[in-house]
Amino acid sequence: MARPLPTARTRPLDPPAELGRLRAEHPISRLAYPDGHLGWLVTGHAAARAILADPAFSARSELQRRPVGDGPREPAGPGIFINLDAPDHTRYRRLITGQFTVRRMRELEPRIEQITAERLDAMERHGPPLDLVESFALPIPSLVICELLGVPYRERERFQRDTAVIASLDATAEQARSATADLARHLHELVLRKRADPADDLISGLIRSGELNDEELTGVAVMLLIAGHETTAGMLSLGTLALLSDPSQQARLRADPSLTGGAVEELLRYLSIIHLGPTRAALKDIELYGVRIAAGETVTISLPAANRDPGRFPDPDELDLTRATAGHLAFGHGIHQCIGQQLARVELRVGLNALLRRFPTLRLAITREDIDFRTDSITYGVRSLPVTWHLGEAT
Ligand code: HEM
Repeated sequence: MARPLPTARTRPLDPPAELGRLRAEHPISRLAYPDGHLGWLVTGHAAARAILADPAFSARSELQRRPVGDGPREPAGPGIFINLDAPDHTRYRRLITGQFTVRRMRELEPRIEQITAERLDAMERHGPPLDLVESFALPIPSLVICELLGVPYRERERFQRDTAVIASLDATAEQARSATADLARHLHELVLRKRADPADDLISGLIRSGELNDEELTGVAVMLLIAGHETTAGMLSLGTLALLSDPSQQARLRADPSLTGGAVEELLRYLSIIHLGPTRAALKDIELYGVRIAAGETVTISLPAANRDPGRFPDPDELDLTRATAGHLAFGHGIHQCIGQQLARVELRVGLNALLRRFPTLRLAITREDIDFRTDSITYGVRSLPVTWHLGEAT
């Protein structure tokens, strides 16, 4: 019998247990969508990879149903290539990949270190306790995206205000809509100014390519800002919580900072914060793993379930910072695999490492039971993370 997508968690850092039970029965099961649609849920790692790599499954939003929540899905606006298929997607992807150059990423790293150090200085000045989401996890990705897109310093506060509202689940739908419109307006103004006076940033680089109009450029900028902000912020706060919750793994990492790169991959796998998708629509009838997916049916790929598949990762529910994580799906797979993953990795590596080193006695300022988890947004995470440390011990 088809059931709705399981979202209830017994242990907040583990996916809903029901997903594991479904995966043990079959990697692909029937899923009842809130609008009455009968589609599919993919919980097995190999099946998830196969579907994400198969052009017979479309990323076009208007063809898909929502696995949670309600309301119809609109076609992608100009520049929103995450919801396009080849060849429309290919055109954007090629242009934007060309801007995520090794040189630009290398140049960003010292800026990320500086931005992180400034946030840690501000935390130290403020003193304990404080909310790590507000003081650390949200501002770092927000400032890094501003840096990447070339948002001038004097305008960054305004951008941070808008993106914080969009990322916050406390905001009403109306507040989020108005903040998104505000952001799009500001980014459109920015595009016009860059056109008149180009610099060395990503938007200027795209303008130089001469292939996108102002609406498309604005759409790309909005998407990068939203896609790169909430996700990385979620990983910084939830990653910290996972480390604070596991003293032995944390001690290993503190003792050997060279583990940080691998630790980031394991945290990405273990936490799989994109937890309600991605979704795809079958463009034709397809037989897969013994089930027949009919044209038009929506398929929800559970990244948390796939990344905890014991067939792929032994003892998948153990956080093991030194395990082999190759092939994890936290950044997706196939043509839509996250375009910002290298940038996100640098932010997580630099951010988590610097935080642990600056505050050796960092710990939660509330009990684990009192942590406010956000379960209904695309990104799983915490709304706030009150932390504390011994005064005078910051290094
Ligand atoms: C830890 C942080 C991040 C996580 C977990 C994450 C996760 C993902 C996932 C799962 C997808 C695939 C979606 C799908 O298949 O439909 C994706 C796509 C994407 N991500 Fe990320 N992301 C992160 C950071 C970033 C950053 C920093 C940026 C930009 C600066 C970014 C920009 C994008 C874009 C533009 C796409 C769409 C790519 C396409 O459709 O070709 N992400 N991300």
